Amino acid sequence: MNISFADHKLPRAGILLLTQPKGTAFRGRAAEIDKKTGGALKRAAKAADFQGEKGSFVELMAPKGVSAARVALVGLGDPGELTGLEAEGLGGKIAARFEKGPDKDLTLWLDEAKGLKLEMDELAARIGLGLKLRSYRFDKYKTKQKENGKPKLAKAVIMSDATAKARRTFGELSKVADGTIIARDLVNEPSNILHPVEFAARIKANAPEGLKVEVLGEKQMEKLGMGALLGVGQGSRRESQLVVMRWDGGKKGEAPVAFIGKGVCFDTGGISLKPPAGMEDMKGDMGGAACVTGLMHTLASRKAKVNAVGVVGLVENMPDGNAQRPGDIVTSMSGQTIEVINTDAEGRLVLCDALWYTQDRFKPKFMIDLATLTGAIMVALGQEYAGIFSNNDELSDQLFNVGEREGEKVWRLPMGPAFDKMIDSKFADMKNVGGRFAGSITAAQFLGRFVNDVPWVHIDIAGTAMSSPATDINTSWGSGYGVRLLDRLVAEHYEG
Ligand code: BES
Ligand code: MN
Ligand code: ZN
Repeated sequence: MNISFADHKLPRAGILLLTQPKGTAFRGRAAEIDKKTGGALKRAAKAADFQGEKGSFVELMAPKGVSAARVALVGLGDPGELTGLEAEGLGGKIAARFEKGPDKDLTLWLDEAKGLKLEMDELAARIGLGLKLRSYRFDKYKTKQKENGKPKLAKAVIMSDATAKARRTFGELSKVADGTIIARDLVNEPSNILHPVEFAARIKANAPEGLKVEVLGEKQMEKLGMGALLGVGQGSRRESQLVVMRWDGGKKGEAPVAFIGKGVCFDTGGISLKPPAGMEDMKGDMGGAACVTGLMHTLASRKAKVNAVGVVGLVENMPDGNAQRPGDIVTSMSGQTIEVINTDAEGRLVLCDALWYTQDRFKPKFMIDLATLTGAIMVALGQEYAGIFSNNDELSDQLFNVGEREGEKVWRLPMGPAFDKMIDSKFADMKNVGGRFAGSITAAQFLGRFVNDVPWVHIDIAGTAMSSPATDINTSWGSGYGVRLLDRLVAEHYEG
């Protein structure tokens, strides 16, 4: 959808949409349009019992006195309570309501509302953001979509008294939305197309200006001793890849913040094969890597004043004559050995080498990893909260607070020596599963063994990255979860 900002002007066609606060009489522009229509707008509102409730609509078809095909009202609720997130939700609802057409154009008139909490530019930009995120579609493989099934709404012009400022604010927010959309696209892409080599190639090809990208293949990873990551990929025909993205927007020589993503391009479970039902969802098992890719894109394109590295471990977990077996013992880059009890607990094997590499090479200020790591996180938290696990209270609290405000929520779960015992192995330094109980925690505890003194958070996004319930601003299977959360974390706490 094309979204733009302009000063108030009557549209010649399409939909003219006005805002109406809850429970007040028509004022300003709504009163002006009502007058032009000979009072029809007010009568329509009355007939529909429209009270300006947040997100409610009333619509008037082909009214006399204006050339727009439709005039509509959207309720703002109480302007004193409307938050930025709710304004995005309104944008989403507007897209949902009008996308089917037949009109291609929508003009939204924003009026001063008494007691409005948000600045006008913020209101306009957040509605624009909601429109943009909600109208995302992944339909490139639908060759037979019927004309009447396709969305018609193509253009939205948001008119206010703060045009220039709104345009600027939207421009900034848009860069975060672009990162989210990159992540959604990657998660939605099927695994026959998006295998590790293709994923790495796309990162390289689509890197914004100033983002440095290095791709390490299996030979280089062997030299580095990444036996855990390589063990996961050894049953695949596709070469495993480790991609390092660097954005140096901060002070020269200052330690970077680091983001590490699980990129299992398809997870069959390996020799510990998964049951068939729902296995197709495992095309999204690279949601962590997708988020890191989208985030690095956003940081670079908004020229964030921070040094940041993104590292993604890209593999395919396949059963094959060359695949690793239950009972195999691999040596990780850290030197620690791992007994692979279950080849389906592969994410931690990929991440442990990626974490160690990042810590060793970059000496980061902190490390945050994202992974669709365990089904158990959905049993514990459902699909609205991601689980976080950490050795650092400050970083955890920062993430929690940012998450609440950005609508990408996290909830912290415990770690500790009691869980450590569960992953001790008879034959090696540790095993890759801890039994039936506390599955998400033992996975985190495993990762913790590869983190030295650096502040670290592990985010388990198995419930939030894909197949999560639709919201006002997302109906895509791949949600792009995490890009906003981490971009905001950086913006609020680690820039300048
Ligand atoms: N990728 C899965 C976790 C997952 C499950 C993500 C469902 C999204 C939706 C992970 O690699 C996995 O298989 N985990 C196992 C761990 C177990 C073998 C200890 C799981 O959760 O069952
Ligand atoms: Mn698995
Ligand atoms: Zn997996």
